[in-house]
Amino acid sequence: MAKKLRLAVFISGTGRTLKNLIEYIHNEQLSAEIVIVVSSSANVTGLQHAEKESIPIEIIERCSYESLSEFSEANFSVCRAARADYVVLAGYLRRLEIPSDFENRVLNIHPSLIPSFCGKGYYGNIVHSKALEYGVKISGCTVHFVDQEYDTGPIILQKAVEVCEDDTANILNDRVFAAECQAYPEALELLAQSRVSVKGRIVQIDPPKTQKCVGEDIDF
Ligand code: GRF
Repeated sequence: MAKKLRLAVFISGTGRTLKNLIEYIHNEQLSAEIVIVVSSSANVTGLQHAEKESIPIEIIERCSYESLSEFSEANFSVCRAARADYVVLAGYLRRLEIPSDFENRVLNIHPSLIPSFCGKGYYGNIVHSKALEYGVKISGCTVHFVDQEYDTGPIILQKAVEVCEDDTANILNDRVFAAECQAYPEALELLAQSRVSVKGRIVQIDPPKTQKCVGEDIDF
């Protein structure tokens, strides 16, 4: 039986990832509610998805804080106040320091198969251009927990896509994003079903818990 996760979703852009999560929740394919949307800027189009759903919004801009620590603390204070179980980075482009109470509770999705084409400066179509330049035959996406570095946290799940000969960065981006739209809700649903455990940097996914029928296990 899945518990209903309380999610804080962080955005910096178009909010396509946020929109996809909202759709999964509406379709009852993800046992979660989005309790707050945090944006790194007031001028992002993604906020419209939160407004449409009447999800509370916080705008927390890096320029309002002197240090990365203060900025990070402002973000996580809001998540604590909203009683968020998990922070979901959804196209969020600011670095954060993860406080100890949010260790393995912050997730990100990256548009490549980590550890390829990731790290500082690898975002958006840059990732896909680098993959095409290198000549890889598969790419994909990675859902991972966020640690204190870029894209180095424990990997929860990955989905691969084919790279075709006449791909451009935009075409590959579309194919990878379609995979992301399945991977992120799938990873979150595993958390909702309490099937994820982390040992060091290895994430273990337990098999689905079978529901017992009424009357099962009763000795007559
Ligand atoms: C995708 O490239 C994803 O991999 C990355 O952010 C992009 C989506 O941003 N994390 P958005 O949801 O369209 O704002």
